[in-house]
Amino acid sequence: MKKIQTVKKLRSTLAAWREAGDTVALVPTMGNLHKGHLSLVSLAAEHADHVVVSIFVNPTQFGPGEDFERYPRTLEIDTRKLSRVRVDALFTPTIDEIYPRGIDQATIVTVPGLSDDLCGKFRPGHFSGVTSVVSRLFNICLPDVAVFGQKDYQQLMVLQRMVEDLHLPIRLIRGSTEREADGLAMSSRNNFLDAGQRATATVIYRTLEKLAADLRAGQRDYSVLEAAAAANIQAAGLAPDYVAVRNAENLAIPDARSTRLVLLAAARLAGVRLIDNVLLDLPA
Ligand code: PAF
Repeated sequence: MKKIQTVKKLRSTLAAWREAGDTVALVPTMGNLHKGHLSLVSLAAEHADHVVVSIFVNPTQFGPGEDFERYPRTLEIDTRKLSRVRVDALFTPTIDEIYPRGIDQATIVTVPGLSDDLCGKFRPGHFSGVTSVVSRLFNICLPDVAVFGQKDYQQLMVLQRMVEDLHLPIRLIRGSTEREADGLAMSSRNNFLDAGQRATATVIYRTLEKLAADLRAGQRDYSVLEAAAAANIQAAGLAPDYVAVRNAENLAIPDARSTRLVLLAAARLAGVRLIDNVLLDLPA
């Protein structure tokens, strides 16, 4: 695994691979890698000749008062984990490398509408930060495919829209959410929770599963179901931002005949914001 910090070096490495006719998969991350990230890396290896993993804690996707400063930076441990799976290059740029004019002067890439819904309502500017950094990583790396986790479902939808709108010849691949044995979705932010809080946090997934069961049983009053689910999360001691039933293809509000759904939730516990989602296919 080559360890690369600069755009110039990454570009020359990738150019040599491309000259040989090889394809490239990119797995963008912010580090503090867990099993979920490693499964994305393995998935990437199934879709291209070379795998590039980036680790960059992107300042532009954190709002004021969010956890940019305390976001866990664990490069040494991450590098060790990545050396046990198939990675050809690990790209760990500095902030100056990605935003050479500083973050205040940086060109911003924004996907309107979709970025302001759901999590975007509670984290204004977050998705513009994501699209601004991922578009740079795409331009630097020019991958054939890029792999993102389903846990960040809205992020995936926003990035898919960006790829389509900008005519980027990059295929996005979705890796499924890895879960702890009790159902808690794996996330770097779980590290901020103690054992008791982690157990409490499982209410999010259990609530989404119950919501899925209610929908399978034929209930279709989405706003009533969403309110009941949020109340259930709140009763466990979390502060829910939202629970939403949406169309899985585009995150639009579904109608009673929609069959491909995604059930999403975001809630805060002990100052930590947790998200999760469940896909649901209903019979037509
Ligand atoms: O999902 C993440 O870890 C980040 O949002 C990403 C895609 C690496 C962009 O910084």
